[in-house]
Amino acid sequence: MALIDSVHEAVRQHPADLVLAKSLFTHLTREDAAHYLREIRRALRPGSPAVVTAFLFDPSGPEMAGVRRAFPHEDSRSGGRVRYRSRRRPTAAVAYSRAELEDLIERARLRVQWLRPGYYPGGEPITGQDTLLLGH
Ligand SMILES: C[S@@+](CC[C@H](N)C(=O)[O-])C[C@H]1O[C@@H](n2cnc3c(N)ncnc32)[C@H](O)[C@@H]1O
Repeated sequence: MALIDSVHEAVRQHPADLVLAKSLFTHLTREDAAHYLREIRRALRPGSPAVVTAFLFDPSGPEMAGVRRAFPHEDSRSGGRVRYRSRRRPTAAVAYSRAELEDLIERARLRVQWLRPGYYPGGEPITGQDTLLLGH
């Protein structure tokens, strides 16, 4: 059995009671974020929590001046829903519109059970990330 099959089988037999992704989604492309959300769904025991942090913004919210300063580069394919701090190295810091991350979460068949806004956005320096509790 290939290693990846053994890992999948172990996860199937022993689903996780907690998944923690702290300061991970702030470094993921949209494709990788979608992938890891699907993996969280697969690994997580029903009724158990996944704690995920992210930089979220509302494109029509008052925070956008701060968001544009902190994440000046729009992902051209995302219609403004994904922004990067650095064009040269997009995964240095990634921000998602709340609607975009919620779409990815829903497509992964997870639900947002709780969301705690971080200090971010709207001020400098960025001192906290938004925290989401996910489950299924
Ligand atoms: C800011 S660090 C956070 C580390 C740790 N979770 C913490 O809170 O101290 C970002 C982490 O994301 C990981 N990372 C970045 N891109 C990744 C990817 N595409 N797949 C898996 N891990 C990734 C890095 O290896 C790094 O450990």
